Amino acid sequence: MRVLTGIQASGKLHIGNYFGAMKPMIALQKEHELFTFIANYHSLSTSKDAKTLKQYTKDASIDYLCLGIDPNKTTFWIQSDVHEVLELYWILSKFSPMGLLERGHSYKDKVAKGIPANHALFSYPVLMAADILMLDTQIVPVGKDQIQHVEMTRDIATKFNNEYGDILVLPQHRVEADVATIPGIDGQKMSKSYDNAIDLFMAEKALQKRCNKIVSSSTPLGEPLAWEDDNIYALASLFLDQEQKIELQLRYQSGLEGYGHFKKYLKELIWEELGEAREKREYYLSHSDEVNDILAMGAKRTRAIAQAKMLSIKEAIGL
Ligand code: ADP
Ligand code: TRP
Repeated sequence: MRVLTGIQASGKLHIGNYFGAMKPMIALQKEHELFTFIANYHSLSTSKDAKTLKQYTKDASIDYLCLGIDPNKTTFWIQSDVHEVLELYWILSKFSPMGLLERGHSYKDKVAKGIPANHALFSYPVLMAADILMLDTQIVPVGKDQIQHVEMTRDIATKFNNEYGDILVLPQHRVEADVATIPGIDGQKMSKSYDNAIDLFMAEKALQKRCNKIVSSSTPLGEPLAWEDDNIYALASLFLDQEQKIELQLRYQSGLEGYGHFKKYLKELIWEELGEAREKREYYLSHSDEVNDILAMGAKRTRAIAQAKMLSIKEAIGL
């Protein structure tokens, strides 16, 4: 199965991104032919300045590689290195009725949030359709907010195929079952917009400080603690198997330890889980040529597929 994921680079990654998006995505490369790219043309629709867009793109490339994208298995590139996608985007525009785009949640939400309406924001789903259709993608793993974009892609492809024959492959979306919403230090959904995130790559001391800020109940030391609604427990359990979770529950119930102990324990869990990634990250940060080579190889592989596809599309429509 050919699987495609696009990533919008938008700053530092946190524990919510890691368990909610990256880990499930990286696991896909074991079973599937995975294509993954940094969607920097998409980010341009809301980008504020060149420096930030460049930096975010670079950071995301390194973060994904160090967390486990294996360039020998997975094709990994930067969207703007495969220009063919923009040619297809224009062609697909003809098959994208205004009514369809006007119903786009993402566009409506962004405008409601005060982001100035522009054509890039409006036609964002058509570019996403081009990403997907250019590679004969069969499966697109997405968060719930992106399902509509895959449905629009199917509508656009169907319209195209009805007029010009069976050329485009209709993709299916796949929502990772069971990815719970991970709480931030205040118990609300962890998000970089809520100032409640625990970032993945913090220095050790800063990480402990951040963990110390997790809101918990005020049960005094010496009394049994309830783990059920505790944010520290909720975060720690992400790193534990069933047996370890039960062990932790018993520690909560024993009354021998307080929240401070569990905050230290959580910090250790995070620090350990990311040990290998941290080392790889250091390596890639000081070997950016290697990162560029990996991305160039990915772009070359993608371009070869895209060019062949574009030939058949252009032939079919008379360009
Ligand atoms: P943020 O809310 O910090 O801006 P994004 O919207 O950029 O995060 O999310 C990127 C990916 O990480 C999405 O696939 C999203 O589903 C996942 N994700 C983000 N926050 C969480 C969370 N708290 N719990 C689970 N998954 C999350
Ligand atoms: N719109 C997606 C997001 O914001 C990113 C994306 C762009 C994408 N093109 C894609 C995802 C193609 C999957 C397939 O998360």
